[in-house]
Amino acid sequence: MSTSNATISPTQASTPRPAVRPLAIGPVVVDPPVLQAPMAGYTNYAFRQVVREFGGAGLLATEMIAARGARWLETHRGENPDRLWGVRDEPRPLAVQMWDNDPENLAAVGRRLARDFRVSVVDLNFGCPVRQVTVKAHSGSWLLRDPSRVGEIVRRVVEACDGTPVTAKIRLGCAETCRTAVEVAQRIEEAGASCLTVHGRVAAQFFSGRADWEAIAAVKRSVSRLPIVGNGDIDSAETAVERLTSHGLDGVMIARESLAKPWIFAQTAALLRGEPKPADPTPDEQYELVLHHYDLVCRRFGAERGTLLMRKFACSYAQGLPGAREFRGLVSRVLSPAEFIEVMRTHFPRSGGTSKFSQGGLSKIGGGL
Ligand SMILES: Cc1cc2nc3c(=O)[nH]c(=O)nc-3n(C[C@H](O)[C@H](O)[C@H](O)COP(=O)(O)O)c2cc1C
Repeated sequence: MSTSNATISPTQASTPRPAVRPLAIGPVVVDPPVLQAPMAGYTNYAFRQVVREFGGAGLLATEMIAARGARWLETHRGENPDRLWGVRDEPRPLAVQMWDNDPENLAAVGRRLARDFRVSVVDLNFGCPVRQVTVKAHSGSWLLRDPSRVGEIVRRVVEACDGTPVTAKIRLGCAETCRTAVEVAQRIEEAGASCLTVHGRVAAQFFSGRADWEAIAAVKRSVSRLPIVGNGDIDSAETAVERLTSHGLDGVMIARESLAKPWIFAQTAALLRGEPKPADPTPDEQYELVLHHYDLVCRRFGAERGTLLMRKFACSYAQGLPGAREFRGLVSRVLSPAEFIEVMRTHFPRSGGTSKFSQGGLSKIGGGL
Protein backbone atom coordinates (compact mmCIF):
# COMPACT_ATOMS: atom_id res chain seq x y z
CA MET A 1 0.00 0.00 0.00
CA SER A 2 1.26 3.49 -0.73
CA THR A 3 0.46 6.58 1.28
CA SER A 4 -2.12 7.46 -1.30
CA ASN A 5 -4.08 4.55 0.21
CA ALA A 6 -3.24 5.66 3.72
CA THR A 7 -6.07 8.13 3.53
CA ILE A 8 -7.39 9.53 6.73
CA SER A 9 -11.08 9.18 7.48
CA PRO A 10 -13.38 11.72 9.18
CA THR A 11 -13.95 11.39 12.92
CA GLN A 12 -15.95 14.38 14.08
CA ALA A 13 -19.00 16.35 13.12
CA SER A 14 -18.09 19.28 10.92
CA THR A 15 -17.09 22.52 12.58
CA PRO A 16 -17.64 26.12 11.48
CA ARG A 17 -15.22 27.17 8.75
CA PRO A 18 -12.58 29.52 10.21
CA ALA A 19 -12.09 32.78 8.31
CA VAL A 20 -8.64 32.26 6.83
CA ARG A 21 -7.31 33.68 3.58
CA PRO A 22 -4.64 32.14 1.35
CA LEU A 23 -1.18 33.60 1.89
CA ALA A 24 0.33 35.52 -1.03
CA ILE A 25 4.13 35.27 -1.18
CA GLY A 26 4.65 37.61 -4.11
CA PRO A 27 2.90 35.84 -6.99
CA VAL A 28 2.90 32.49 -5.17
CA VAL A 29 -0.44 31.56 -3.63
CA VAL A 30 -0.03 29.46 -0.49
CA ASP A 31 -3.39 27.83 0.10
CA PRO A 32 -3.97 26.83 2.79
CA PRO A 33 -1.51 29.13 4.60
CA VAL A 34 0.01 26.15 6.41
CA LEU A 35 3.67 25.59 5.62
CA GLN A 36 5.97 22.59 5.98
CA ALA A 37 9.09 23.83 7.77
CA PRO A 38 12.63 23.34 6.52
CA MET A 39 14.47 20.77 8.66
CA ALA A 40 18.09 19.93 7.94
CA GLY A 41 18.62 16.19 7.59
CA TYR A 42 14.89 15.52 7.26
CA THR A 43 12.92 17.51 4.70
CA ASN A 44 14.50 15.92 1.66
CA TYR A 45 12.60 14.86 -1.44
CA ALA A 46 11.39 11.59 0.11
CA PHE A 47 9.85 13.35 3.12
CA ARG A 48 8.33 16.06 0.94
CA GLN A 49 6.86 13.40 -1.31
CA VAL A 50 5.16 11.78 1.67
CA VAL A 51 3.76 15.15 2.80
CA ARG A 52 2.57 15.82 -0.74
CA GLU A 53 0.80 12.47 -0.98
CA PHE A 54 -1.29 13.28 2.09
CA GLY A 55 -1.81 16.87 0.91
CA GLY A 56 -2.75 19.96 2.89
CA ALA A 57 0.59 21.81 3.03
CA GLY A 58 0.37 25.09 1.13
CA LEU A 59 4.14 25.36 0.69
CA LEU A 60 6.90 22.78 1.11
CA ALA A 61 10.52 23.57 1.89
CA THR A 62 13.85 21.85 1.40
CA GLU A 63 16.57 21.42 3.99
CA MET A 64 18.82 24.46 4.21
CA ILE A 65 21.80 24.52 1.87
CA ALA A 66 25.08 26.31 2.57
CA ALA A 67 25.41 29.07 -0.02
CA ARG A 68 29.19 29.00 0.19
CA GLY A 69 29.22 25.28 -0.48
CA ALA A 70 26.54 25.60 -3.11
CA ARG A 71 28.62 27.96 -5.27
CA TRP A 72 30.20 24.85 -6.75
CA LEU A 73 26.92 24.63 -8.64
CA GLU A 74 28.35 27.31 -10.90
CA THR A 75 31.08 24.98 -12.08
CA HIS A 76 29.18 21.69 -11.85
CA ARG A 77 26.07 22.63 -13.69
CA GLY A 78 24.92 19.12 -14.47
CA GLU A 79 25.10 17.73 -10.94
CA ASN A 80 22.66 17.82 -8.09
CA PRO A 81 23.94 17.72 -4.55
CA ASP A 82 21.89 15.58 -2.18
CA ARG A 83 20.23 18.59 -0.60
CA LEU A 84 18.77 19.61 -3.96
CA TRP A 85 17.50 16.10 -4.64
CA GLY A 86 14.20 16.37 -6.52
CA VAL A 87 14.14 20.16 -6.59
CA ARG A 88 14.32 20.56 -10.35
CA ASP A 89 11.38 18.36 -11.17
CA GLU A 90 9.02 18.09 -8.24
CA PRO A 91 5.69 19.94 -8.10
CA ARG A 92 5.49 23.56 -7.06
CA PRO A 93 5.14 25.57 -4.92
CA LEU A 94 8.50 24.72 -3.38
CA ALA A 95 10.87 26.87 -1.29
CA VAL A 96 14.61 26.28 -1.11
CA GLN A 97 16.33 27.63 1.97
CA MET A 98 19.97 28.72 2.14
CA TRP A 99 22.31 30.14 4.73
CA ASP A 100 25.53 32.16 4.78
CA ASN A 101 26.53 35.67 5.89
CA ASP A 102 27.93 36.93 2.62
CA PRO A 103 25.42 38.86 0.48
CA GLU A 104 27.29 38.04 -2.74
CA ASN A 105 27.39 34.29 -2.10
CA LEU A 106 23.72 34.30 -1.23
CA ALA A 107 22.84 36.45 -4.24
CA ALA A 108 24.76 34.14 -6.60
CA VAL A 109 23.09 31.00 -5.31
CA GLY A 110 19.68 32.70 -5.10
CA ARG A 111 19.97 33.75 -8.75
CA ARG A 112 20.81 30.20 -9.76
CA LEU A 113 17.93 28.74 -7.77
CA ALA A 114 15.50 31.23 -9.28
CA ARG A 115 16.71 31.06 -12.90
CA ASP A 116 17.88 27.52 -13.41
CA PHE A 117 15.99 25.56 -10.81
CA ARG A 118 12.89 27.74 -11.12
CA VAL A 119 12.03 27.35 -7.44
CA SER A 120 8.89 29.16 -6.28
CA VAL A 121 10.50 30.87 -3.29
CA VAL A 122 14.09 31.53 -2.18
CA ASP A 123 14.24 31.47 1.63
CA LEU A 124 17.01 32.87 3.83
CA ASN A 125 17.91 31.33 7.16
CA PHE A 126 18.48 33.76 10.02
CA GLY A 127 17.31 31.40 12.74
CA CYS A 128 19.67 28.44 12.94
CA PRO A 129 21.13 28.24 16.48
CA VAL A 130 23.68 25.50 15.77
CA ARG A 131 27.30 26.35 16.67
CA GLN A 132 28.74 25.39 13.31
CA VAL A 133 26.47 27.96 11.66
CA THR A 134 26.57 30.67 14.36
CA VAL A 135 29.92 30.79 16.19
CA LYS A 136 31.91 29.19 13.37
CA ALA A 137 30.31 30.85 10.33
CA HIS A 138 28.65 33.95 11.82
CA SER A 139 25.46 33.02 10.00
CA GLY A 140 21.93 31.85 10.87
CA SER A 141 20.70 33.35 14.15
CA TRP A 142 24.12 34.96 14.72
CA LEU A 143 23.03 37.66 12.24
CA LEU A 144 20.05 38.67 14.40
CA ARG A 145 22.46 40.85 16.39
CA ASP A 146 23.00 42.92 13.24
CA PRO A 147 19.64 43.92 11.73
CA SER A 148 21.18 46.16 9.08
CA ARG A 149 23.34 43.33 7.74
CA VAL A 150 20.23 41.15 7.54
CA GLY A 151 18.58 43.95 5.55
CA GLU A 152 21.59 44.22 3.24
CA ILE A 153 21.56 40.48 2.58
CA VAL A 154 17.84 40.43 1.83
CA ARG A 155 18.15 43.44 -0.51
CA ARG A 156 20.96 41.80 -2.54
CA VAL A 157 19.15 38.49 -2.81
CA VAL A 158 15.87 40.16 -3.83
CA GLU A 159 17.73 42.01 -6.61
CA ALA A 160 19.47 38.83 -7.74
CA CYS A 161 16.31 36.72 -7.79
CA ASP A 162 14.65 39.16 -10.17
CA GLY A 163 10.99 38.57 -9.42
CA THR A 164 11.19 35.20 -7.67
CA PRO A 165 9.98 35.99 -4.16
CA VAL A 166 12.53 36.01 -1.35
CA THR A 167 11.50 35.13 2.19
CA ALA A 168 13.29 34.87 5.51
CA LYS A 169 13.03 32.78 8.66
CA ILE A 170 14.14 34.16 12.02
CA ARG A 171 13.93 33.53 15.74
CA LEU A 172 12.96 36.22 18.27
CA GLY A 173 16.63 37.11 18.76
CA CYS A 174 19.98 35.63 19.73
CA ALA A 175 19.25 35.56 23.46
CA GLU A 176 16.77 36.98 25.99
CA THR A 177 19.05 40.01 26.25
CA CYS A 178 19.06 40.43 22.47
CA ARG A 179 15.43 40.19 21.27
CA THR A 180 15.81 41.95 17.93
CA ALA A 181 12.97 40.36 15.96
CA VAL A 182 10.96 43.56 15.57
CA GLU A 183 13.87 45.56 14.21
CA VAL A 184 15.03 42.69 12.02
CA ALA A 185 11.51 42.26 10.61
CA GLN A 186 11.36 45.95 9.73
CA ARG A 187 14.72 45.78 7.92
CA ILE A 188 13.54 42.66 6.09
CA GLU A 189 10.35 44.40 5.02
CA GLU A 190 12.20 47.50 3.78
CA ALA A 191 14.59 45.28 1.82
CA GLY A 192 11.73 43.88 -0.25
CA ALA A 193 11.16 40.39 1.16
CA SER A 194 7.81 38.79 0.40
CA CYS A 195 7.19 36.93 3.68
CA LEU A 196 8.81 36.32 7.06
CA THR A 197 8.50 33.28 9.32
CA VAL A 198 9.14 33.80 13.02
CA HIS A 199 9.97 30.90 15.34
CA GLY A 200 8.87 32.10 18.77
CA ARG A 201 12.09 31.34 20.66
CA VAL A 202 15.45 33.02 20.98
CA ALA A 203 18.43 31.12 19.63
CA ALA A 204 19.94 30.54 23.07
CA GLN A 205 16.87 28.46 23.97
CA PHE A 206 17.41 26.01 21.13
CA PHE A 207 14.18 24.03 21.71
CA SER A 208 13.69 24.55 25.46
CA GLY A 209 10.74 26.42 27.00
CA ARG A 210 7.63 27.25 25.02
CA ALA A 211 7.36 29.27 21.82
CA ASP A 212 6.17 32.81 22.59
CA TRP A 213 3.27 33.44 20.22
CA GLU A 214 2.54 36.83 21.79
CA ALA A 215 5.99 37.93 20.69
CA ILE A 216 5.31 36.60 17.17
CA ALA A 217 2.06 38.63 17.10
CA ALA A 218 4.04 41.71 18.20
CA VAL A 219 6.34 41.25 15.20
CA LYS A 220 3.26 41.13 12.96
CA ARG A 221 1.98 44.39 14.44
CA SER A 222 5.34 46.07 13.86
CA VAL A 223 5.34 45.68 10.06
CA SER A 224 2.99 47.21 7.55
CA ARG A 225 2.66 44.87 4.55
CA LEU A 226 5.06 41.98 5.14
CA PRO A 227 3.11 38.73 5.68
CA ILE A 228 4.14 36.99 8.91
CA VAL A 229 4.05 33.22 9.45
CA GLY A 230 4.19 31.94 13.03
CA ASN A 231 6.12 28.84 14.06
CA GLY A 232 6.78 26.88 17.22
CA ASP A 233 5.27 23.97 19.14
CA ILE A 234 2.28 23.27 16.89
CA ASP A 235 1.47 19.71 17.89
CA SER A 236 -1.97 19.12 16.38
CA ALA A 237 -4.27 20.33 13.62
CA GLU A 238 -6.43 22.04 16.23
CA THR A 239 -3.45 23.98 17.59
CA ALA A 240 -2.48 24.97 14.06
CA VAL A 241 -5.94 26.43 13.44
CA GLU A 242 -5.98 28.16 16.82
CA ARG A 243 -2.55 29.72 16.26
CA LEU A 244 -3.52 30.83 12.77
CA THR A 245 -6.80 32.42 13.75
CA SER A 246 -6.00 33.94 17.17
CA HIS A 247 -2.82 35.88 16.61
CA GLY A 248 -3.56 37.99 13.55
CA LEU A 249 -0.99 36.05 11.50
CA ASP A 250 -0.89 35.28 7.80
CA GLY A 251 0.19 31.66 8.09
CA VAL A 252 1.59 28.95 10.33
CA MET A 253 4.54 26.61 9.86
CA ILE A 254 4.86 23.12 11.32
CA ALA A 255 8.17 21.31 11.84
CA ARG A 256 8.77 18.54 14.39
CA GLU A 257 5.23 17.21 14.67
CA SER A 258 5.16 16.59 10.93
CA LEU A 259 8.02 14.10 11.26
CA ALA A 260 5.76 11.86 13.35
CA LYS A 261 2.57 12.86 11.53
CA PRO A 262 3.13 14.00 7.96
CA TRP A 263 -0.66 13.92 7.63
CA ILE A 264 -1.00 16.86 10.10
CA PHE A 265 -1.21 19.27 7.14
CA ALA A 266 -4.12 17.36 5.60
CA GLN A 267 -5.92 17.37 8.96
CA THR A 268 -5.33 21.11 9.40
CA ALA A 269 -6.52 21.83 5.86
CA ALA A 270 -9.73 19.89 6.53
CA LEU A 271 -10.46 21.90 9.67
CA LEU A 272 -9.78 25.12 7.77
CA ARG A 273 -12.33 24.06 5.16
CA GLY A 274 -14.84 23.55 7.98
CA GLU A 275 -14.76 19.78 7.50
CA PRO A 276 -14.35 17.13 10.21
CA LYS A 277 -10.78 16.29 11.12
CA PRO A 278 -9.75 13.06 9.37
CA ALA A 279 -8.52 10.34 11.72
CA ASP A 280 -4.83 9.43 11.86
CA PRO A 281 -3.89 6.51 9.57
CA THR A 282 -4.29 3.17 11.31
CA PRO A 283 -1.16 1.52 12.77
CA ASP A 284 -1.10 -0.83 9.77
CA GLU A 285 -1.28 2.11 7.39
CA GLN A 286 1.50 3.83 9.31
CA TYR A 287 3.60 0.69 8.97
CA GLU A 288 3.06 0.76 5.20
CA LEU A 289 3.91 4.44 5.16
CA VAL A 290 7.31 3.85 6.79
CA LEU A 291 8.12 1.22 4.19
CA HIS A 292 6.99 3.50 1.38
CA HIS A 293 9.25 6.25 2.74
CA TYR A 294 12.10 3.72 3.03
CA ASP A 295 11.60 2.76 -0.59
CA LEU A 296 11.90 6.41 -1.71
CA VAL A 297 15.10 6.88 0.32
CA CYS A 298 16.70 3.67 -0.98
CA ARG A 299 15.94 4.59 -4.59
CA ARG A 300 18.14 7.66 -4.17
CA PHE A 301 20.84 6.51 -1.78
CA GLY A 302 20.96 2.77 -2.37
CA ALA A 303 19.85 0.14 0.12
CA GLU A 304 22.83 0.30 2.50
CA ARG A 305 23.06 4.08 2.95
CA GLY A 306 19.27 4.38 2.66
CA THR A 307 18.89 2.02 5.61
CA LEU A 308 21.17 4.12 7.81
CA LEU A 309 19.38 7.31 6.78
CA MET A 310 15.97 5.78 7.41
CA ARG A 311 16.69 4.89 11.03
CA LYS A 312 15.93 8.41 12.30
CA PHE A 313 12.76 8.71 10.20
CA ALA A 314 11.50 5.38 11.51
CA CYS A 315 12.13 6.59 15.07
CA SER A 316 10.13 9.75 14.37
CA TYR A 317 7.22 7.82 12.91
CA ALA A 318 6.97 5.62 15.99
CA GLN A 319 6.79 8.63 18.32
CA GLY A 320 3.79 8.41 20.62
CA LEU A 321 2.79 4.89 19.57
CA PRO A 322 2.66 2.07 22.13
CA GLY A 323 5.95 0.14 22.20
CA ALA A 324 7.80 3.00 20.50
CA ARG A 325 10.71 2.97 22.92
CA GLU A 326 11.63 -0.65 22.27
CA PHE A 327 11.20 -0.18 18.52
CA ARG A 328 13.45 2.87 18.52
CA GLY A 329 16.13 1.07 20.50
CA LEU A 330 16.21 -1.68 17.88
CA VAL A 331 15.73 0.29 14.67
CA SER A 332 18.39 2.83 15.54
CA ARG A 333 20.98 0.03 15.43
CA VAL A 334 20.03 -1.73 12.18
CA LEU A 335 22.82 -1.97 9.61
CA SER A 336 21.26 -3.77 6.65
CA PRO A 337 17.98 -3.74 4.75
CA ALA A 338 17.20 -7.24 6.02
CA GLU A 339 17.61 -6.08 9.63
CA PHE A 340 15.47 -3.01 8.99
CA ILE A 341 12.63 -5.02 7.50
CA GLU A 342 12.86 -7.57 10.31
CA VAL A 343 12.67 -4.93 13.05
CA MET A 344 9.79 -3.24 11.24
CA ARG A 345 7.96 -6.55 10.91
CA THR A 346 8.45 -7.64 14.49
CA HIS A 347 8.48 -4.39 16.45
CA PHE A 348 6.83 -1.49 14.62
CA PRO A 349 3.81 -0.75 16.80
CA ARG A 350 0.76 -2.10 14.93
CA SER A 351 -1.96 -4.69 15.09
CA GLY A 352 -0.30 -7.22 12.78
CA GLY A 353 -2.10 -7.03 9.42
CA THR A 354 -0.51 -8.08 6.17
CA SER A 355 1.02 -5.82 3.58
CA LYS A 356 2.57 -6.05 0.18
CA PHE A 357 5.92 -5.28 1.77
CA SER A 358 5.77 -7.89 4.53
CA GLN A 359 4.77 -10.52 1.96
CA GLY A 360 8.18 -10.88 0.32
CA GLY A 361 8.41 -7.09 0.27
CA LEU A 362 12.23 -6.88 0.30
CA SER A 363 12.28 -6.97 -3.48
CA LYS A 364 10.07 -3.92 -3.58
CA ILE A 365 12.39 -1.67 -1.57
CA GLY A 366 14.72 0.58 -3.49
CA GLY A 367 13.74 -1.02 -6.76
CA GLY A 368 14.97 -4.46 -5.60
CA LEU A 369 17.77 -5.33 -3.18
C1 LIG B 1 15.99 18.41 13.08
C2 LIG B 1 15.66 19.85 12.82
C3 LIG B 1 16.27 20.50 11.76
C4 LIG B 1 15.97 21.83 11.49
N1 LIG B 1 16.54 22.43 10.40
C5 LIG B 1 16.17 23.69 10.07
C6 LIG B 1 16.62 24.28 8.86
O1 LIG B 1 17.36 23.68 8.06
N2 LIG B 1 16.22 25.56 8.60
C7 LIG B 1 15.39 26.25 9.44
O2 LIG B 1 15.05 27.40 9.16
N3 LIG B 1 14.93 25.70 10.58
C8 LIG B 1 15.27 24.44 10.89
N4 LIG B 1 14.75 23.86 12.01
C9 LIG B 1 13.78 24.61 12.83
C10 LIG B 1 12.35 24.33 12.39
O3 LIG B 1 12.12 24.72 11.05
C11 LIG B 1 11.34 25.04 13.30
O4 LIG B 1 11.59 26.43 13.25
C12 LIG B 1 11.43 24.58 14.76
O5 LIG B 1 11.58 23.18 14.84
C13 LIG B 1 10.20 25.00 15.56
O6 LIG B 1 9.04 24.47 14.99
P1 LIG B 1 8.29 23.17 15.64
O7 LIG B 1 8.02 23.50 17.08
O8 LIG B 1 7.05 23.01 14.82
O9 LIG B 1 9.24 22.03 15.54
C14 LIG B 1 15.06 22.54 12.31
C15 LIG B 1 14.45 21.88 13.38
C16 LIG B 1 14.73 20.55 13.63
C17 LIG B 1 14.04 19.86 14.78
